Amino acid sequence: MLANLPPTSSTPASPEALAAPLTRAPVIVIFIEEGGGDWHARRLKDAMERRGAQVVTSTLKACAFDTRLRSGIDIPGFEGRLPDGVFVRSISKGALEAITLRLGILHALSASGVRVWNEARVIERCVDKSTATFLFQKAGLPVPDTRTAEGHANALAYAEGRLPLVSKPLFGSQGNGVKKAEKLEDLPGEDEVGGVYYLQRYLRAPGQQEFSDWRVFVSGGRIIGSMARQGAHWITNIHQGAQPQAADLDEDARQLALAAVRAVGADYAGVDLIRDSEGRLMLLEINSNPAWKGLQSICEIDIAVALAEDFLDAVTATMAANGVSVR
Ligand SMILES: Nc1ncnc2c1ncn2[C@@H]1O[C@H](COP(=O)(O)OP(=O)(O)O)[C@@H](O)[C@H]1O
Ligand SMILES: [Mg+2]
Repeated sequence: MLANLPPTSSTPASPEALAAPLTRAPVIVIFIEEGGGDWHARRLKDAMERRGAQVVTSTLKACAFDTRLRSGIDIPGFEGRLPDGVFVRSISKGALEAITLRLGILHALSASGVRVWNEARVIERCVDKSTATFLFQKAGLPVPDTRTAEGHANALAYAEGRLPLVSKPLFGSQGNGVKKAEKLEDLPGEDEVGGVYYLQRYLRAPGQQEFSDWRVFVSGGRIIGSMARQGAHWITNIHQGAQPQAADLDEDARQLALAAVRAVGADYAGVDLIRDSEGRLMLLEINSNPAWKGLQSICEIDIAVALAEDFLDAVTATMAANGVSVR
């Protein structure tokens, strides 16, 4: 299936092999979570194939750097050749060494002329909540008061007189590990947060019973879908039981979501917005590998199709810049 890719081994290519790849369908790899079965990846693959791309699903865990290959990068089934585009659904869990290697491979793919969505630099900025918050602040965007620092003693000193505070794992998602500290003893232990405390002002009013925030899905510089997430618990992730609701975003919210995506340089992203107890709109966080199953349930547009189109447009533009036209 990948026979039409240019060879990257040290064997000289035949004139046919050199000529053929200059007009071809884009070859795409979608990196999924180890174990597979990803609802999102299946839809993306379908949508990309309907647009004529050749799509392979793989995991970053199965990839390698290998100096015997001319490209230096080994993606299963590619024999050292490189795809035109890579769509990262997941980098998968792993030790610091494993994550460093996988991000290194994504950096190397971008540096080798492969269009990567989102690229490693963007994933690094978004996965680390403190860096994303810093970049939002530098871009002049409204963020809740937040301090990220190491050590329980520092956390205690900051929390004194500021409670209640929200504590979040630096690399968390789907509301996992998000906690409210009403008193100093509620602050998590160092082992729970890897010694790093991301502490944020709790934005809800005391006694509040109903909670909602917004998820805005941005791709190709435009909003392709948004929803309110409503629930009886203050953590309103769909994964934590909140309900998705159709919601018209006002212009301020739309502009804030788009500015957040620009601030981190993402190609596509899920942006969380919230209003504090005084009604001020704020940026909570940004996800560089967002899920969209909940959003799709209340959305008319097919999100996978929109995403596949934006991504393939970007891949095609990169191919053209590399002198390859698309069949
Ligand atoms: N500072 C805060 N004040 C009040 N609620 C918050 C605050 N931060 C997060 N939440 C709630 O917790 C949810 C999860 O937080 P978020 O920062 O989006 O982390 P995650 O990556 O786990 O989704 C938010 O959608 C919101 O409902
Ligand atoms: Mg969130």
